[in-house]
Parts: sequence; C-alpha cells; structure tokens
Amino acid sequence: MRELSLDDLPKHSPWPARLLGREDWDEQAGFGGIGVSVYDEVYGKLFSLARENPEMDYRAVQRSANHYAEESPVAISRGENLYLADVDEKQELQDEALVASFAGTLSGGETVVALGCGWGYELGVLADAYPDCEFVGGDPAENGVALARELFSDRDRITVGEFDFRDDRWDLLEDVLADGSASADDGGDGDDGEGEVVLFTQGSLTALPSVRDVISETLANYLDRVRTGVHLEHVFELHPEDTLLGQLRRSYADRREYNDDMLTALRATGGIDVTSATYDVVGGNPLHPLSEIRWEAV
Ligand SMILES: C[S@@+](CC[C@H](N)C(=O)[O-])C[C@H]1O[C@@H](n2cnc3c(N)ncnc32)[C@H](O)[C@@H]1O
Repeated sequence: MRELSLDDLPKHSPWPARLLGREDWDEQAGFGGIGVSVYDEVYGKLFSLARENPEMDYRAVQRSANHYAEESPVAISRGENLYLADVDEKQELQDEALVASFAGTLSGGETVVALGCGWGYELGVLADAYPDCEFVGGDPAENGVALARELFSDRDRITVGEFDFRDDRWDLLEDVLADGSASADDGGDGDDGEGEVVLFTQGSLTALPSVRDVISETLANYLDRVRTGVHLEHVFELHPEDTLLGQLRRSYADRREYNDDMLTALRATGGIDVTSATYDVVGGNPLHPLSEIRWEAV
C-alpha cells in the first residue's frame, strides 16, 4: 500500500471529473441512487457463479467479484488519507474494519442482526471472528438471500431471510427477539451476552435517500429489546465542510442521492445514546468511506 495524493486521485477514480462536471455521466444508467434491483442482478450473477463452482466458499466468491469489478491498484482511504492498494489488500482492510467494529461489543452469546446484508459476506467474516455468537442477516434482494442460504447452508450459526427497512414492522428482527426471549440467559455458562441482540448495518442504510423515519419511527420500536447498534456506513454529517476531500465527499453523496441524516437521526432519537462516531475507518471508494457508529439503547 502506498500513499496517494488527492491531486492524483483523478488518475485512479472517475469521480472527481464527474463531480466537477468535466466528464459526462449518465445518472439514469445506474450511476444515480442504486435500487434493490441493481443489487439483485449482481447477486444473481454471483449465485450462478457459486452454483457452477460448488467448491467456492464465501471468501472465494467475494474475491472473484472483486477482481471482476476492479484491477489493482485501487484507490482507498483510511482516516482521511488516500492510498493505492492491491484489490485483495483492500478486501483485507475492509474485513479488519468489520471485525474491529465489534471489538468490546461481543462477549459471547449475542445474536447480531445484520440488516441489508446483501448476499451475506459480512456474516461469514463475523461468524469466523466471533465463534460464540449467532448471526442473522436480512436483505430485500431475493438473489442475495438465496446465495447466502446456499453458501452458509452448513453453518448453524448463520441464518438469512428477507428484510426491508421500509416495512413498518421488521419481522426478521421480531423473530429473533421472540426466539431470544424464549432462550434468554440460562444462568451463566460464561457467555455474558447470552440472549442479547446487537443490530448491525454495513453500507445498507446508505441506499436510502433519508433514514430519519426508519430510525425515529421503526427502529425506535425495538429499543427496549435491543442492546446496542453498530454501523459501518457512509456518514454524511462527518464529512468536513472546510476541506477539498470533505467537499468532494459531500458532492458525491448528493449526486448519488445517498442519505445525509443518519447521525442526526440517531442522535435525535430518544432511547439511543451514540457512544462513538469514528470517521473514515476505511474507504473502498475514497469519496464514499465507511465510518463506524456505535450506540447503546438507554
Ligand atoms: C452496498 S450493499 C451492502 C451489502 C452488504 N451489507 C455489504 O456490506 O456487502 C447495499 C445493500 O443494501 C440493500 N438495500 C437496499 N435497499 C434496502 C432496503 N430498503 N432495506 C434493506 N436493505 C436494502 C441492498 O439490497 C444491498 O444488498
């Protein structure tokens, strides 16, 4: 991995030229806000790949997708610094950030509910890193759910179902909470988090143009039964207004019609105490970095 100056970013990303109006790009042809159908199509292709190559595990599927999408070196970010990295190295950094986002949160026995989990790659990484926890994923993309079920059919700690943030009632979460209350703390086998539910999202709230109502109306209904939340998301409010990189990132989110209200909504919702907000833990796209947000239900 080597440093990349902001001045050189246009050599490795089309986005500065697009955002500055120097290059034509068609927002209607998949460059605007990305709908579920676009993800579903991609997951469908990966599902075919996995079916044709049953020896591929979830990491091999992701590696294949990564190498199909990009050629090394690729521009990435960490902590507002830009770098050039190998495609596989980029995945390692993203996996590290994912596992690290739960450090100190999972003590064993918790169920992590990953909302908008795509085809479940994150469930596999987390289940490998936290062998004493259970992982439930949900996504509205049918091919994503089908692929996850196929890839993790032999893992009893991973289950996947359909889920949509826009539903008034989150059945996937309701089912977990119903199961948890039936099997809640059995009196101490050393797993301190036994029966507790941790909510997680990675890059999925981003897909919504606003998350205010999802957080303040729907999520709020579950705060009495969920212990904590962890998000690895694009967080608009953390982009500095007074740096060139921050301005480019703000413009990127505007043009893609990604939400600009996640942190504001979490902070404004009674029953949520945002305990940390760490900017740009990793940016697989340096103009669209993931930040880590953690909260406790209070
Ligand atoms: C960038 S992908 C992230 C997937 C996965 N979490 C990851 O990090 O690889 C965004 C995901 O959000 C999902 N998504 C889009 N709209 C959604 C909605 N209304 N409810 C739940 N998930 C949604 C998409 O289907 C897609 O799988």
